[in-house]
Amino acid sequence: MNDALTAKINDQINKELYSGYIYLGMAAYFEGENLPGFAHWMKRQAEEEVEHAMKMFTFLAERGAPITLDAIDGPTTEYDSVLGVFRAGLEHEQYVTGLINDLYESALAEKDHATAIFLQWFVTEQVEEEDSFGSMIEDLERVGDCGKALYMMDRAAASRE
Ligand code: FEO
Repeated sequence: MNDALTAKINDQINKELYSGYIYLGMAAYFEGENLPGFAHWMKRQAEEEVEHAMKMFTFLAERGAPITLDAIDGPTTEYDSVLGVFRAGLEHEQYVTGLINDLYESALAEKDHATAIFLQWFVTEQVEEEDSFGSMIEDLERVGDCGKALYMMDRAAASRE
């Protein structure tokens, strides 16, 4: 595999794990706010990010490309509201979408079809990722300051698989 493309995928492994760490930080915030449903939702999100990193790890291994693992930055656990958390999450996913699209374009430019096809899963996944944060934001905006409705949302978030 092309060295530059390999380096970019290795960097994306780090970014996916960092994403997981960010969502774990959000889960920690919710635990502190006694919102166990939202904490569960974010822990599941963190697990999904680790799965994304592992898909890339396995792909590099299968291609016989070197795997390099860098340090992961520490995330914040401080937020000012439930809505603020999900808005920050959506913003982060939009950033990740940009990284995935850039990676996909690099694979196409290198005519590395196997990598391009592999990355298509992530291109599609990013649509879902943005949508799941976006839907939570829409519901939270409807809920506004209603404590009862927020409680119900927390209970519903606990059922995320
Ligand atoms: Fe791995 Fe949330 O994108």
